[in-house]
Amino acid sequence: MTKELLPTVHIPVLYEETLAALNLAPGKVIVDGTLGGGGHTLAIARAVSPTGLAIGIDRDPKALDRVDARFAALNENLPFKSFFANYCDFDAALERAGVERVDGFLLDLGLSSDQLADRSRGFSFDSDGDLDLRFDPTEGVPAYELLNRWRVDKIADVIYRYGEERASRRIASAIVARRSEKPIRSARDLAGICRRCIPSPPWNKQRIDPATRTFQALRIAVNDELGSLERFLKKFTEYLNQGGRVAIISFHSLEDRLVKNAFRESPYLNVITRKPIIATETEIERNPRSRSAKLRVAEKVAE
Ligand SMILES: C[S@@+](CC[C@H](N)C(=O)[O-])C[C@H]1O[C@@H](n2cnc3c(N)ncnc32)[C@H](O)[C@@H]1O
Repeated sequence: MTKELLPTVHIPVLYEETLAALNLAPGKVIVDGTLGGGGHTLAIARAVSPTGLAIGIDRDPKALDRVDARFAALNENLPFKSFFANYCDFDAALERAGVERVDGFLLDLGLSSDQLADRSRGFSFDSDGDLDLRFDPTEGVPAYELLNRWRVDKIADVIYRYGEERASRRIASAIVARRSEKPIRSARDLAGICRRCIPSPPWNKQRIDPATRTFQALRIAVNDELGSLERFLKKFTEYLNQGGRVAIISFHSLEDRLVKNAFRESPYLNVITRKPIIATETEIERNPRSRSAKLRVAEKVAE
């Protein structure tokens, strides 16, 4: 592990529920398209061992390095291969792994706590690091560049559409006013603007940080998160064995809707979760980021 990589701090959400949903057994081949800190994948690799395979994919090279080092240190000879890729390109990873079909897919969407804790990437509101927000730092454009370039309407639309932020126009105007004096660069710059635009509690009844929705919206746009999910949903059933399972954890209503509709409309799938599985109060207390998690599961029943 390179020196600056700290051990994972990510706590997997809906852990037992997700593992149960995948019907794991020795010999199975499972793709985890969002490896993150490797929490779910470690349990998957152990359950499919020794004859199966866990394939872990992530767009963040640091996540891959961290998990590779974590698993190597365990010295368990885990059946695990990792790939640096967008999960929507899982088919290329399968080809490289010499696998044609799999018994399960897992996606645990969004951001990991390791990315949030890395103050150089702009995910945490109070960091002085560049407001980058890319999972894959080798692809696309950092968020600060977009905010200094987009027209006010575009900024407002993104914040409204992906953040469901009612103060989107006010925030967009404040961004444009601020950048005319000095370009926006850090996460702290943007968080300060959001906080000045949205009144503090008790008016902000949910008491979430006023920057939350704006950061989420920009992250979704910068990484084209909905585009990746749509591309995955269009093709994954082709690669799933009969009886194979797909489990997707989403944290955003737009993602959850895409998953729900794709599962329901597929002639190849039987939906296992009529309603999404959500975290218990105990899990939410232990791990607050599980509060908005929704797990949907389906099984391939037809070719
Ligand atoms: C919530 S974390 C996954 C946590 C993991 N399940 C665990 O237990 O440690 C999401 C991870 O997915 C990655 N990711 C997000 N979108 C991706 C995409 N389109 N392709 C590949 N990886 C992606 C992020 O970089 C992040 O590491």
